[in-house]
Amino acid sequence: MFIPEEVIDEVRASSDIINVVSDYVRLRKQGNNYVGLCPFHSEKTPSFMVSADKQIFRCFGCGEGGNVISFIMKWEKISFPEAVRFLANRAGITISEEEDPVKNARLKELNEAYEINELVKDFYQYILANHPVAGEARNYLKKRGLTEETIDKFQIGFAPPSWDGLLHFLNKKGYAPEKLEKLGVVLARSKGKPGFYDRFRNRVMFPIWDIRGKVVGFGGRVLDDGVPKYLNSPETILFNKSHLLYGINKAAESIRREDQAIIVEGYLDVITCHQAGISNVVASLGTAFTREQGKLLLRYSQSVIMAYDADAAGVHATMRGWQLLDDLGCRVRVVSIPDGKDPDEFIRTHGADEFLQVVRQGAQTLSEFNTDRALEKYDMATLEGKFKIASEVIPSITNISNEIEKNEAIMRLAQRLHLSPEAVRAEVEKKPRTARNTWSKRDKITDARNNNDNRVLGQIASGDEDARSKAEESLLVLMLNDSNIFLKVKEEIGVHFSLRQEYLNIVNLLNEIVENELDYQPAVLFDRLQDESATQVLKRLILMEIPRENMNQVIEDCIRTVKEDEIRKKREELLKRMEEADKARDQELRKQLLLEYSKLI
Ligand code: CTP
Ligand code: MN
Repeated sequence: MFIPEEVIDEVRASSDIINVVSDYVRLRKQGNNYVGLCPFHSEKTPSFMVSADKQIFRCFGCGEGGNVISFIMKWEKISFPEAVRFLANRAGITISEEEDPVKNARLKELNEAYEINELVKDFYQYILANHPVAGEARNYLKKRGLTEETIDKFQIGFAPPSWDGLLHFLNKKGYAPEKLEKLGVVLARSKGKPGFYDRFRNRVMFPIWDIRGKVVGFGGRVLDDGVPKYLNSPETILFNKSHLLYGINKAAESIRREDQAIIVEGYLDVITCHQAGISNVVASLGTAFTREQGKLLLRYSQSVIMAYDADAAGVHATMRGWQLLDDLGCRVRVVSIPDGKDPDEFIRTHGADEFLQVVRQGAQTLSEFNTDRALEKYDMATLEGKFKIASEVIPSITNISNEIEKNEAIMRLAQRLHLSPEAVRAEVEKKPRTARNTWSKRDKITDARNNNDNRVLGQIASGDEDARSKAEESLLVLMLNDSNIFLKVKEEIGVHFSLRQEYLNIVNLLNEIVENELDYQPAVLFDRLQDESATQVLKRLILMEIPRENMNQVIEDCIRTVKEDEIRKKREELLKRMEEADKARDQELRKQLLLEYSKLI
């Protein structure tokens, strides 16, 4: 079923969207575009629109959209390769059925990689269980409360201190060191005579599995306070950190059964939870939780509890992760672990029952969690303090989509701040929802395109998150329309100007198109975007009307808004660091920060 990219491009180019869609929908020309009754939902007035220039379709009623291939997939209810074949057939292009040699070679490489990882895991496990050099490691694990059974279940091992223990072992089995290097288990020597050496030495080894329980990488922990505390496999053909969740193979069934997942930060948090009989627990491999990890979880449950470490990094990671999971449609609750910094420590001192109690009774919504954080930071006794607390918490209330939950959040905040619910509600309603929520409203403005509605673009308030996100959105819409605007924006603020991952994904693809000097045809994006929610965003943006007048002014304004917001963020960061410097009585650092700060004004 493999179809090379060039063939896909050829098929798309030979299938004019007006021509193809006309087979199914009666289209009428209107301005630059064609309109008709949407074939994907029932309607009496046409809100289905096809653009000949852009080679895309979009329904302003039901939100469906895409290029010619997406249209056929949707209409015929077939997969992407099937739709390509369908259109190829229509256009008289033959796609050969030969097996793809490149793909076969890759399959072979993958299989061998799994085989090697399995052996590596066996080697480390053997050393831990049997070798005298592992005595200290065995003690360490015992001291941390892990039972023999757990060590076995989690296939924990030990990498000996020598430089070539693993290398020798795998050499004898006939694997070339170059292959091992590609899998990240050995490294090439950079000095002296050429050769290789073991990456992991003198570390307790935790294999990391994919969902099927195959070993895809390793995390290795030092036995003392050495740094780095953990050394992980580098990215390899098997190991892609952002797509994996540690423990998912062992947790999936119980996540489904209990319809709830608990996410923690560390390998040892997962292991201790499982050992204590709580098995719906996974870790995000470090702190940054990704969308792919979220999607993986969603296969098993929509309900997620985040139980990250109680330190600053943990709180930050919680906020980010929450946003991401909420965007994916999860019901997220946050647990702050009292006294003790992570779930592993908590369970070892207080036991599993108490941990479960904390999870059940202490799980908070984001606004509650934010309230607690803000109450720690500001003084409730002063009006100013109350105001600061409110302004930190209110954005997380504004964004709640469920009205009942929102109402409850308002009541709770009012109660905690000793304010009237009306006062809080008024503040909540003053704040516009952030972009992702206003979109759905905007989509319903079906006639926006006909009356040159300039509300869509260019109206920019200043100085808040919302202005920033509006500016980003406007820039993206304009860039999608014109490669010159893309180049201008890139030159002024670069391609990483957005705070939204979906936007970044789209801009990156545009950048690839420009850098490889491909046709600047945004319809192509639909076939190349890997990310479902970015595709949704693209559907919304790609046919948005743009103002013909004052275009340059709009672009300048948007760029300035983004720049100013960046500066504002930098200033806030500097202020925070100055406060810390004050606390640490570091005059020198403070002076330096102040200097930096003054440059930003
Ligand atoms: N981590 C990492 N590299 C580091 C530090 C941490 O990859 N240098 C990842 C690991 O996946 C680790 C997780 O971040 O499990 C959480 O880090 P931390 O809380 O420091 O470690 P714990 O797993 O809690 O380990 P321990 O309890 O042994 O300190
Ligand atoms: Mn820990």
